Amino acid sequence: MTQTLQVAVCLFPRVTVTDYQGPIELLGILSAKNRERALAGVSGTLPDLNIEFTYLSHTLDPVEPTAGPTLLPSLTYDDAKEQFDIILVPGGPSVNPPRACPEFIERQAPGAKYILTVCTGSLILARTGLLSGKRATTNKSAFRSVQEETKHLGITWVPKARWVVTEDKKIWTGSGVSAGMDLAGGFLDHLVGPELGVAMRSFIELSVRAQDEDEFAAYHKLV
Ligand SMILES: *[C@@H]1O[C@H](CO)[C@@H](O)[C@H](O)[C@H]1NC(C)=O
Repeated sequence: MTQTLQVAVCLFPRVTVTDYQGPIELLGILSAKNRERALAGVSGTLPDLNIEFTYLSHTLDPVEPTAGPTLLPSLTYDDAKEQFDIILVPGGPSVNPPRACPEFIERQAPGAKYILTVCTGSLILARTGLLSGKRATTNKSAFRSVQEETKHLGITWVPKARWVVTEDKKIWTGSGVSAGMDLAGGFLDHLVGPELGVAMRSFIELSVRAQDEDEFAAYHKLV
């Protein structure tokens, strides 16, 4: 029986599109409409795994991102009653999403299999307390201010990292914007194994960097 992983994509005004669109481009290969074409030449057994995305916002009004066209959400946070398997939290320049967004994340977190954040999305997650006692990373140009704002929360912020995953493999946090692609690559390997992971990355010609292969910590003088 095919297992479908339902992904909740958390949108809000002034979201950075690449934060979620990058990972979606890669993970979306496993969605029903793409997998047959994308994985046609792949040998071996394909995982019986399907991925579906739902785009949420606090209202159904178009969401204005930092760049690019407006986005049309398909569900409000308040109307989302089902449990999602994966919660994807992108970031933005000044993350202050309407309260419905962090409240949704708090409601969903205990039952979710995975929580993925990119860029300052980890600050949204941190404020809910869900990163307390854990290791995480974030947008490097915002690193110090994120550290300062969350210093009472007992989070170990890792500066030299493209992405960080918690020991139980549940919470995956990515560094700034494009690092979301590296995070998605690592997450995909975890999900389907490195062999199929390579095949899927090759389909979109994505070369990923290792978890700690990060030049931006030094650039931003964090190490
Ligand atoms: C990263 O953080 C900096 C500092 O807060 C901010 O200026 C920048 O817009 C953020 N980048 C993104 C893509 O959100």
